Amino acid sequence: MKPKVEKALNEQIHAEFFSFYLYLSVAAYFTSNHLDGFAHWMRIQAQEEFNHAMKLFDYLNERGGTVALLPLDAPAREWPSPSAAVESVLNHEKAISARINSLVDLATAENDHATTVVLHWYVNEQVEEEATADTLYHQVKMVESSPHGLLMIDRELAGRPAPAPIDAAAE
Ligand SMILES: [Fe+2]
Ligand SMILES: [Fe+2]
Repeated sequence: MKPKVEKALNEQIHAEFFSFYLYLSVAAYFTSNHLDGFAHWMRIQAQEEFNHAMKLFDYLNERGGTVALLPLDAPAREWPSPSAAVESVLNHEKAISARINSLVDLATAENDHATTVVLHWYVNEQVEEEATADTLYHQVKMVESSPHGLLMIDRELAGRPAPAPIDAAAE
């Protein structure tokens, strides 16, 4: 594997682990604000992000690359409102999508077809994650002035199932 691609994949592993950390922090924020359904949903999403990092971790190893884990910054832990917390994950997902797109450009420029194919999975995943975060953000914005509306969304989010195990996620 070319060193440029290896370095960029290590940086993406880092970005996915930071996503894991950010969703966990948002989960803690919702827990302390007694919105347990939101907290549950964010915690499940954190598990998904962990899986995204591990899928690249395994891929790098499979290709004979070296995994080099980087330090994680502390994520934000306070937001002025539930919608602001959801907006921060929405903005983060947009930034992750931009990263994935540049990674595809790099893999293509370096003629690394195997990496391009692996990254296509992430391109699709980002479409889904951005759409989900965007819908949630707008719904929370809509009801934010009424506790009743917020509690209805909270109840719905409490039902999010656990993510598929890592092997299935790697398909
Ligand atoms: Fe991710
Ligand atoms: Fe994500």
